[in-house]
Amino acid sequence: MPEPVLRAAGLARSYASPAGPLSVLNEVSLEVRAGESVSVRGSSGSGKTTLLQILGGLDLPDAGKVEVLLPGRGLCPPRMALGRGVGFVFQNYQLMPELSALENVALAGRITGVPSDEADRHACELLGQVGLAARADHLPSKLSGGECQRVALARALVNHPTVLLADEPTGNLDERTAEEVMSLMLGVVATLGTALVLVTHSREFAERASRRYVLSGGALSPA
Ligand SMILES: Nc1ncnc2c1ncn2[C@@H]1O[C@H](COP(=O)(O)OP(=O)(O)OP(=O)(O)O)[C@@H](O)[C@H]1O
Ligand SMILES: [Mg+2]
Repeated sequence: MPEPVLRAAGLARSYASPAGPLSVLNEVSLEVRAGESVSVRGSSGSGKTTLLQILGGLDLPDAGKVEVLLPGRGLCPPRMALGRGVGFVFQNYQLMPELSALENVALAGRITGVPSDEADRHACELLGQVGLAARADHLPSKLSGGECQRVALARALVNHPTVLLADEPTGNLDERTAEEVMSLMLGVVATLGTALVLVTHSREFAERASRRYVLSGGALSPA
């Protein structure tokens, strides 16, 4: 059986609110192995983004533990793996508006210490893989939503993450473009062997993952 690339156990998270603590996650545990894709559905406000942010080290749980596989280092806290072991794709792309598609992807490589020429070469290669070789010089404002999300996918993969965390990656796209981006994402992660945790409201896309969960009442249940 492939090794786990992501291991979360006993996660709890609540937020302060005027009415008292708002408990969002209780006892969430999840293990994802290399090459697996896992989908998480759940109603708005159920805590999906909170969970992904904790899995990726953008937020800390009140209780519980997360570990992510960092090649050469073994299982590490996700904050250590940020930008390397973990890649993120967000609903609203979050590209740097003043940088071209190529620069957006290459910058993510350079900030982890990869030399510029190597980062540029790898960024070019990834833009080719997502079908955007001809748009490498375009600013995000000169790209369609689907193209922006392809750039964001290339950026998320530039540092060879062991796990890709995608938060409603097709939420801003029309049906046909959403299908194209989802097929591309599933195909690319399968080719690279990257594990995927996909948060989506789409039952159809969720079904395409190898394991499926619903987040409700602060807990994950198999769908
Ligand atoms: N920083 C915060 N402070 C206080 N409450 C928060 C904070 N972030 C999220 N929440 C609350 O926590 C709950 C879960 O939010 P979260 O964004 O994780 O939901 P979600 O499942 O991703 O929803 P959606 O499907 O709409 O994206 C919501 O009720 C939200 O209002
Ligand atoms: Mg959300």
